[in-house]
Amino acid sequence: MALITKKIKGTEDVLPKQSYRWQFIENIMREESRAYGFKELRTPVFEHTELFARGVGQTTDVVQKEMYTFDTKGGESVTLRPEGTAGAARAMLEHSLDNEGLPVKASYFVSCYRYEKPQAGRLREFHQFGIEEFGTQSPVADAEIICLAQSVLDRLGLDQIHLELNSIGCPECRAKYNQALRDYFSQYKDKLCGTCLTRLEKNPMRLLDCKSPEDQAIAKDAPVITDYLCEDCENHFTEVKKYLDAAGIAYNVNPKIVRGLDYYTKTVFEFITDCIGAQGTVCGGGRYDGLIEELGGKHTPSLGFAMGLERLLMVMDAQGIEIPNNDSCALYIATMGDEAKIKAFELLRRVRESGLTAETDVVGRGLRAQMKYADKIGAKYSMVLGDNEIAENKAKVKNMDSGEQTELALDESFAEKFSVLQLADASGFQI
Ligand code: HAM
Repeated sequence: MALITKKIKGTEDVLPKQSYRWQFIENIMREESRAYGFKELRTPVFEHTELFARGVGQTTDVVQKEMYTFDTKGGESVTLRPEGTAGAARAMLEHSLDNEGLPVKASYFVSCYRYEKPQAGRLREFHQFGIEEFGTQSPVADAEIICLAQSVLDRLGLDQIHLELNSIGCPECRAKYNQALRDYFSQYKDKLCGTCLTRLEKNPMRLLDCKSPEDQAIAKDAPVITDYLCEDCENHFTEVKKYLDAAGIAYNVNPKIVRGLDYYTKTVFEFITDCIGAQGTVCGGGRYDGLIEELGGKHTPSLGFAMGLERLLMVMDAQGIEIPNNDSCALYIATMGDEAKIKAFELLRRVRESGLTAETDVVGRGLRAQMKYADKIGAKYSMVLGDNEIAENKAKVKNMDSGEQTELALDESFAEKFSVLQLADASGFQI
């Protein structure tokens, strides 16, 4: 039978020897979101198509071109989530989480699906860490979630990432701005791509994030939203900046940041790096004060952000950041004979209970092959158990790096003594 060994274009496997890298960044994200009071929310990978059409917006690239949408056997149209916000908002409404007190603060890890052209940093299945905060219009919340994103990036050890900040106003300022955009882009009607021609009528702001180079060149001199903000939005933006200044977070006000999803209002932001090529946005987010109403709920000003895990790992590689690997085997027990096998089985359980990784032969190899395997998996210590060791009830544990050997009794004290030995070696102390 022919081998099936090809994954789908634009998807990636995380292999067992690489997963510690993912776990490292995920742990930092979990710790930081907990420190800011966010609790994890898990939502399904697919939702009713209408949720994204209404939530993300009919005129976005995501909804128009990139969704994985299919009819189920029952005739329902469902879509693999292209992002995490709409599902989180749906869950908040469905479970009336707002009754438990506002703001509702949720964090999440999600796989997302977008039928985009794959390239470095742009996948069809990718992973996001995100947070959403429902039920606050205070600019303090905007500044606080930006601080959270910054703390995660700092703890990952990343630099050369800049924060681009903007306000895209409320529907009131947007109406005036949209008119200014229509007036501007109408001069170039014969040069715009087909999608942008329809957007010109329905949602001119989307012309600003069109991926066609010709349209991007035209968009360069388009009017900027900051000139059209109403007093309320202007004040909100000023306050957000005040809090960011107080927190010592550097930002660049960039009126060109409009984000590619329709739900945003007021504050929007992106953390961008130049060190991984064209797909340098590692985090994007902002306020979406109208989304919950758009989905049928009551007025609930809200905000959030999401980070792309694959892109963050690319930046860490590009910046040469070493990720600690605690996955390797602390102790490998090689055995000779049935009695030794049983003794190893018993000792290993205790070592594992003490929180260390420990392994033995489960294939039936000879001693040499077992030692070769211990070397291959990078075991820090090895120990050979045979009839002599069993008879004397003691054995030598060997440090695989230094070759140094330490004799330990094979009794109840073994796991604790081994644990102390490897800690002392790691910290350079003598015992
Ligand atoms: P987004 O900007 O579409 O926003 O995606 C957030 C992040 O996901 C991006 O900054 C990028 O790091 C990563 N990302 C997006 N598309 C891809 C792709 N094709 N391949 C690899 N990584 C990708 C959102 O999704 C919003 N839901 C964020 C948000 C949450 N806004 C408010 N709350």
